[in-house]
Amino acid sequence: MRQTMKRDVITISDVSDSEIDEIFSLADEFLGGKDSGAHRVSGRRHQADAYLMATLFYEPSTRTRFSFEAAMKRLGGEVVGGADPATTSAAKGESVLDTVRVMESYTDLIVLRHPCEGAARAAAEHVGVPVINGGDGRHEHPTQTLCDLYTLRRELGGETLRDLNVLLIGDLKNGRTVHSLVYGLARFGANVITMAPPGLGLPSEVSRRLEEDYGRKPELGSQIFDNENGGARIGAMYIAPDSQLKTAISRAQLPRANLHFDGEFVEGDGVKISIDVCYVTRRQGERVSRDETVSSEYPVIDAKFLSAKRYKDTRVLHPLPRVGELGYDLDRDQRGVYFKQAAYGVPIRMALISKLLGISPFSTSRPQGPQHDLYRHGEKMQCANDRCITNHAVERRQLTPKFWLVRPTPKFPKISLRCTYCETDFEPPFYGRVGERSLHANAGVPDEMDWWKIVLFANEQEARMAGLEMSASAQS
Ligand code: NCD
Repeated sequence: MRQTMKRDVITISDVSDSEIDEIFSLADEFLGGKDSGAHRVSGRRHQADAYLMATLFYEPSTRTRFSFEAAMKRLGGEVVGGADPATTSAAKGESVLDTVRVMESYTDLIVLRHPCEGAARAAAEHVGVPVINGGDGRHEHPTQTLCDLYTLRRELGGETLRDLNVLLIGDLKNGRTVHSLVYGLARFGANVITMAPPGLGLPSEVSRRLEEDYGRKPELGSQIFDNENGGARIGAMYIAPDSQLKTAISRAQLPRANLHFDGEFVEGDGVKISIDVCYVTRRQGERVSRDETVSSEYPVIDAKFLSAKRYKDTRVLHPLPRVGELGYDLDRDQRGVYFKQAAYGVPIRMALISKLLGISPFSTSRPQGPQHDLYRHGEKMQCANDRCITNHAVERRQLTPKFWLVRPTPKFPKISLRCTYCETDFEPPFYGRVGERSLHANAGVPDEMDWWKIVLFANEQEARMAGLEMSASAQS
């Protein structure tokens, strides 16, 4: 029976740690037990016979769509939907929001992949059946993260991911899988080290959330080079607050700008750091716009790259597809576990479907909502991300942008708005207060503010039209 309160999984924050554990335990059952050594599901259960799932994919997909469909069918359910928007009314200009409303009346669960960031959240707000985000533009891909974390748990054999050293390699700016994954890793206590070509590091809002929501500070700056590997850049290291790695770094009092990512990591201190996991991603060519200049440098992870001692027991993961950044020689190397990772997509998605349809309901409580206040004066504000669903020429007619008000901190001294759909942060340059006529520059904002009174402006002209003026003192 359907649960009274529908549950959506749009970002990895939509499932709590204990719910993730429940999903993993159920996936273990589908694989014949925690230590069965199996990675593929066989046979069919008759648990979801009464249910239909819709797969709406507006972008190419192999693993996500087929594993969702296989998962539903292995559970005994049926699937309707498609992978080619050209064969649906999308080709006639129908909005995705109208499409999901229609699919809601035909099916019990919707899996949506869409090129616009925030599309899945918008869809979830418009329908009464659970919506699962199968990837929304560059934003998030939470079910891939469930597969990734599950792969680590099964392949590394431990109960916990605490203090694992995880190296994320590739296009960390545009890859949605890594955005969901870094939050998951941070929540389970792993250390994250990033390695990205210039300009393709983690987006600033992701780093900010790692720091503010998960207490992970980048311990090292962006000028660190991996000498052995053609100078690929190590972007930053997000480290568990009390990890051995952090102690090693602070004890050695390393000059932060010239630490080389070679051999033992920390010289002269006796603490050797090994890399437990390399998570490799492809260059997201389709997400780079024509006017963006991108570096031609891109790391290639193969047996040669992994010949250094620190990679001796590494597990190599990749969400796939690979397009040149992952050596085929790793297919025969026991460190390469990416095909098992793809196989785990079926039991994990079977477990998630069972949970969301209430076949095997979550026994634990819902995750906490966001910690920020909703910005109350956003009627005229546009999200700064032009790939956000709220800026899509067709979808925007049915959507009102909404924002969280993110308060300033010493490191980020301006008031930010975070779109509730695509979660992009931006800092409108001016603010005023309800009931007051003076306009202020968005910098050095006092802490003791009545936050609900804050009204932000994208430019001075907008503020003037609302009757606010920059005072002489504010200008100085
Ligand atoms: C990823 C995706 O679509 O984001 N693939 C997947 O779902 N396994 C990764 C990618 O396309 O690079």
